[in-house]
Amino acid sequence: MTSTANRKSNLFHKPVLVEQSARFLITRLDGVYVDMTCGGGGHLEHFTRLLARAALLVGIDRDPEAVYVARETLGQAPQKIEIVNSSFDRIDEIMRGLGIATADGFLFDLGLSSRQIDSPERGFSFMHDGPLDMRMDRKSDLTAEKVVNDYSEKELAAIFTEYGEERRARQAARAVCVRRKDARITTTGMLTATVAPVLSPRYRNASLARLFQALRIEVNGELDQLREALPRVLERLAVGGRAVVISYHSLEDRIVKRFLSAEARGCTCPKDIPVCVCGGKPTVRVLTKRVVKPSPDEVKENVRARSARLRAAEKIA
Ligand SMILES: C[S@@+](CC[C@H](N)C(=O)[O-])C[C@H]1O[C@@H](n2cnc3c(N)ncnc32)[C@H](O)[C@@H]1O
Repeated sequence: MTSTANRKSNLFHKPVLVEQSARFLITRLDGVYVDMTCGGGGHLEHFTRLLARAALLVGIDRDPEAVYVARETLGQAPQKIEIVNSSFDRIDEIMRGLGIATADGFLFDLGLSSRQIDSPERGFSFMHDGPLDMRMDRKSDLTAEKVVNDYSEKELAAIFTEYGEERRARQAARAVCVRRKDARITTTGMLTATVAPVLSPRYRNASLARLFQALRIEVNGELDQLREALPRVLERLAVGGRAVVISYHSLEDRIVKRFLSAEARGCTCPKDIPVCVCGGKPTVRVLTKRVVKPSPDEVKENVRARSARLRAAEKIA
């Protein structure tokens, strides 16, 4: 890998928990590894330095810009690399298209890349003024502008509560609905100015971040995509292979934790039944009894790593 390619992917996004990801993920040096959220290829680039030439690496991202950068970053890698512009809930179709039945490892590094957050025209951040877009894939129909202006007050409050876990959700939804009677709210700046007065001044930035997160989750169907993809990945994981998930907020992490715990338990009988009658068997062994967090040094170097939580499991049957 050339240092120019490495610099390019680092400018796009600095990969988080990269060494820990490799340690949990890689079980065979000549294996097949799928990065479900490859971004600019930061994690994949690290894996190419560890894997044998015979390994196959697949990267998936729903953002065409990320796919372009990942292809550039990984263009000189000695291994065979396939970068696919798609969303990860279509993993069956993607693997079928590539003629791959199973993989030895799947990595999810959820959420947004720094490039997406820092581009005002993408509308992901309340720190920059830009159009209320928030689509990871700009070919999809639903934008944050549509959610903010066309959803009912009740629906908005539910999104702010459920996906943002924001205490002032109802007040924020009310403020949006009052303001939009005059004119559509079309920019991140207009939205911020609309909701800021009803938020607690002490926690204003944290609340704004939660409201923006809620809209982004709704626009991109993020939690549903994750719920759909996890069982599919498990089906396509070779026995002895590993799934590694890095999440950045408690909603994602809870989905991953519950999914892995249920698969590790196997049995779905109610707790008060003395003998198992469902016949369910464990399919995974959880490798991270405690969630893995970035070190203080990593957070010092890359503040966006601070909320990262890594969980990993090995398929046993
Ligand atoms: C945190 S970044 C990944 C960064 C990457 N690991 C790296 O080191 O460069 C998350 C990426 O996941 C992508 N993404 C999020 N949800 C996705 C989905 N459902 N399907 C495919 N890509 C998705 C985003 O577009 C973004 O590029």
